[in-house]
Amino acid sequence: MKIGIGNDHSAVELKNAIVDYLTQQGHEVINYGTDSCEAYDYPLAGEAVANAINAHEVECGICICGTGIGISIAANKVKNIRAAVCSEPVSAKLAKEHNNAQIICFGARIVGLNMAKAIVDAWLNAKFEQDRHIKRLALIDQIESKNH
Ligand code: RB5
Repeated sequence: MKIGIGNDHSAVELKNAIVDYLTQQGHEVINYGTDSCEAYDYPLAGEAVANAINAHEVECGICICGTGIGISIAANKVKNIRAAVCSEPVSAKLAKEHNNAQIICFGARIVGLNMAKAIVDAWLNAKFEQDRHIKRLALIDQIESKNH
C-alpha cells in the first residue's frame, strides 16, 4: 500500500521506526512530517496527511504526535477524513471495521514501538464491515456538511 505518515518533533524516532517496519513489509511510505527534533506544529502534519488522502497521493495515513490527540483533531478538520486515536490494537481494528478510519493516530509519549506496530498491524489488516456502519458514516458526513 501507499501510506502517508505525519509527525511532530516528539515522534521523529517512532515515525522512523514505523517507516522502516512498513517498508520492510513492502509498503511505500510517504513522509509528510518533520525529521527534526526542533519544535514543529502538529496541525501542519495532520493536515498534510489528510490532504494527501483526499488528493489520492496515498491510500491511508498514520499520524503521530506526543499523545496522538492534537494531530488527530487537526486531521479530522479536513473534509471527508476520519482519523482515530488508538493506544491499543483492539480499538485500531474497530476503527477500520466500524468507522472506516483512513488515518490511525497514536502518541509517541503514550505507546512504545511494539504497541505502535501492533496498532498499525491491526488497523492495516482490518476491513471496513459496511452494513449498518454505512448509515452512521453518512450521518457523520451530514454533520460535516451542516457545519461547513
Ligand atoms: C507537543 O509538545 C505536544 O503538545 C504534541 O506532540 C501533542 O501531544 C499534542 O496533542
